[in-house]
Amino acid sequence: MFDTPTQIGPVTIRNRLVMAPMTTYSSNPDYTVSDQEYAYYEARGKTVGMLITAAVAVSKSAHAFPRQISIEDDAFIPGLKTLADKIKAGGAKAVIQLHHGGRMNDASLFNNPDDIVAPSAIKADRSFTTTPRAMTTDEVKATQNDFLAAISRAIQAGFDGVELHGANTYLLQQFFSPQSNQRTDQYGGSIENRSRFILELVEAAQALIQKEAKQPFLLGYRLSPEERETPGITLADTRYLIQKLNALKIDYLHLSTRHFAQSSLRDPDNSTPIIERLSDVLDPDIPLIGVGGINELDDVNQALSMGYTCVATGMTLIADPLWGDKLRQNQPLNTVITQDLVPDLMFERLHRWQKILAEGGRFILKD
Ligand SMILES: Cc1cc2nc3c(=O)[nH]c(=O)nc-3n(C[C@H](O)[C@H](O)[C@H](O)COP(=O)(O)O)c2cc1C
Repeated sequence: MFDTPTQIGPVTIRNRLVMAPMTTYSSNPDYTVSDQEYAYYEARGKTVGMLITAAVAVSKSAHAFPRQISIEDDAFIPGLKTLADKIKAGGAKAVIQLHHGGRMNDASLFNNPDDIVAPSAIKADRSFTTTPRAMTTDEVKATQNDFLAAISRAIQAGFDGVELHGANTYLLQQFFSPQSNQRTDQYGGSIENRSRFILELVEAAQALIQKEAKQPFLLGYRLSPEERETPGITLADTRYLIQKLNALKIDYLHLSTRHFAQSSLRDPDNSTPIIERLSDVLDPDIPLIGVGGINELDDVNQALSMGYTCVATGMTLIADPLWGDKLRQNQPLNTVITQDLVPDLMFERLHRWQKILAEGGRFILKD
């Protein structure tokens, strides 16, 4: 079932397996793609239909993580071109995830705290963050332009598309959230206003792609369907945003959840999976990517039968670059992560998360 080609906007992918976007923390010190990253991605482009890169910073103020790959300037195009070529060499379509951390930026990366900007001056509830400076309306527009310039560079670098990172509490989600966005201009307040940054950006991006892309080039959108906080994004808000993105004919939606069959975080008494609760607003013509705990063939088949068009996996592809072949041959997946599988700094990061990995009971790190 997973091994059939499918259409994502203008791009055909050879099967329905997707590598989930995962930050590698391993760029060169100047934020260009490192040799270890080239090798890591090249190995994983061999069996999936589409590979989504790490979240890549669209501007200087976008950097959320140490050693995050950047696309903030034309100087990054040659390295990104090599990256796209390495991914595509294995037959996968190469999609680059575009990112701005907003108030979630790691404050230790900034000499001047004023450079950390977000919709409103409201601190995120995370120890590594600081209170951001609220963007002026002009800065909001300039930030949209940073994303557009990044798309133009992704086209020049030969990617097959971009994914706008509207999930996991980062900038685009911060605009949509009534918790992090308490602006009083046209970008805050009502749900129409809170969606404005995203929808204007999608529309402008589509026009730019139409104008600049010489090859089929897709535009996807990743979103988190809910926030835990009150106020915070609810499923009703997400239904609204999905309908708006449908109307704009986004090329795909990517639902960022911890588990693909997850039910509402805000409404624990209702055990219906979120995908089912959104089903009446999901457009069958717009592909939907599911993610979270999709590892074995049974998970893949279950997710596809629930209505996802494609399935993405993160940790499994870290541990087992040839995921697709293993599924095809019904072979057990590797779950032991050794240093040779990932860039050194990513391995270090995974070590820090060892407790979480152990709780999941699945992956083991071995020196
Ligand atoms: C090391 C690591 C880095 C991640 N970085 C990103 C990222 O850059 N962008 C993003 O949208 N999600 C990121 N995620 C979340 C994954 O895309 C995915 O949603 C999550 O790992 C759940 O899928 P899994 O159970 O298959 O690992 C990251 C996850 C991991 C483990």
